[in-house]
Amino acid sequence: MDRKERVEQLLIANGQEHLLAHIRELDGAEQDRFFSELERVDWTIFSDEARVRPPEGEIAPIEGLKKEEIASRREEFEKAGMQAVHDGKVAALMLAGGQGTRLGFDGPKGTLDIGVARPLYIYECLIRNLLEVCTACGAYVPLYIMTSDKTDRMTRAFLKEHGCFGYPEEKVRFFLQDMAPATDFEGRLLLEGRGALALSPNGNGGCFSSLRRAGLMEEAKQSGVEWINVFSVDNVLQRIADPVFVGATLLSGVNCGAKFVKKCAPEERVGVLCRRGSLPDVVEYYDLPAAMANARDERGELVYSFGVTLNYLFRLKAIEQASRTAIPVHRAKKKIPYWNGSELIRPETENGYKYETLVVDWVRLMKSCLPFEAVREREFAPIKNAEGVDSVQSARELLKYNGVKL
Ligand code: UTP
Repeated sequence: MDRKERVEQLLIANGQEHLLAHIRELDGAEQDRFFSELERVDWTIFSDEARVRPPEGEIAPIEGLKKEEIASRREEFEKAGMQAVHDGKVAALMLAGGQGTRLGFDGPKGTLDIGVARPLYIYECLIRNLLEVCTACGAYVPLYIMTSDKTDRMTRAFLKEHGCFGYPEEKVRFFLQDMAPATDFEGRLLLEGRGALALSPNGNGGCFSSLRRAGLMEEAKQSGVEWINVFSVDNVLQRIADPVFVGATLLSGVNCGAKFVKKCAPEERVGVLCRRGSLPDVVEYYDLPAAMANARDERGELVYSFGVTLNYLFRLKAIEQASRTAIPVHRAKKKIPYWNGSELIRPETENGYKYETLVVDWVRLMKSCLPFEAVREREFAPIKNAEGVDSVQSARELLKYNGVKL
């Protein structure tokens, strides 16, 4: 069977017969390119209903380490964490593949200048924060940066131009996340041009499989890394490889640590840490029933108040074990530009699904988790929106409050 026949069989087996005629319209080079795209499609996203089913089990509150306890055991945690960082057991993984559609900035989010009287880039804030830890611990933390087709070229060029803001080049590794195809509501793949699937980044939950495919999981293991601190690109105040967090997680014997801040209001749009059945989990704000979001205990505190900050520590060994289980897929209705055979149509209403995996789902796969409270005004300044809540403006105020010169 030649390549063309193999691809055709693949399409038939996966209910994509509508593309067979399209293949015949393409010339040899176009076919080769298209076949490569099709050969990389993860078909279980569409065919495995178990992957799109929400997890089972009753949601219940989870215990966590609160600020007061952390303060009273700070020295013990910090000592253990600094030792681990010093010994090269902790790596950092920056999720920088998102499209940042809510912010509406035309470029990778990390390249945004949020300074006032001088330039201050988001990447710069994050790398400075990490450098502080490295200096205190006397070792550079390996920094893995996950980009996507949408952010890769500009991120690499930008960091090169700025000398990686002082981070040693040999400690930084870039890797590309996979792309996922979009479909119409019947699960048929959409095209965005001749011989080109409509593709978008496959969500931040693919970070470990992409890290592995790039050979970097193995490299991390070989160099003695035992923990990976996964963090988002947009929280300019976050502590990365924070020794206190590292130490507390290590000493507690769990497979994962999750930094949370106490939710400021029931309607705040953050996922919350909880228990689902017997496992730790994160329930997204849009999935949390209103009665639970508003529930208060006898002291008047929110029962589900552990808002996640997208800063997790994962035990490498546990990731490897959990990788045998397929991570859930989140299917979202979107307006997806598509090619109708002669031109690109930009629909006014939702016309299909995009498929994403989410890093929060790894918390459940880890089976054990330590929720760890961060001081909100010191560590949580995400930039998600152009204006208002979680915007450049709100982040600037928090940076100023923390003594950062703008
Ligand atoms: P968000 O959920 O905020 O998504 O990502 P986003 O794409 O940045 O922004 P919106 O929703 O389009 O406005 C949280 C973190 O996960 C990364 C982002 O770069 C951010 O650090 N991410 C998201 C990826 O690395 N890849 C993805 O496919 C999606």
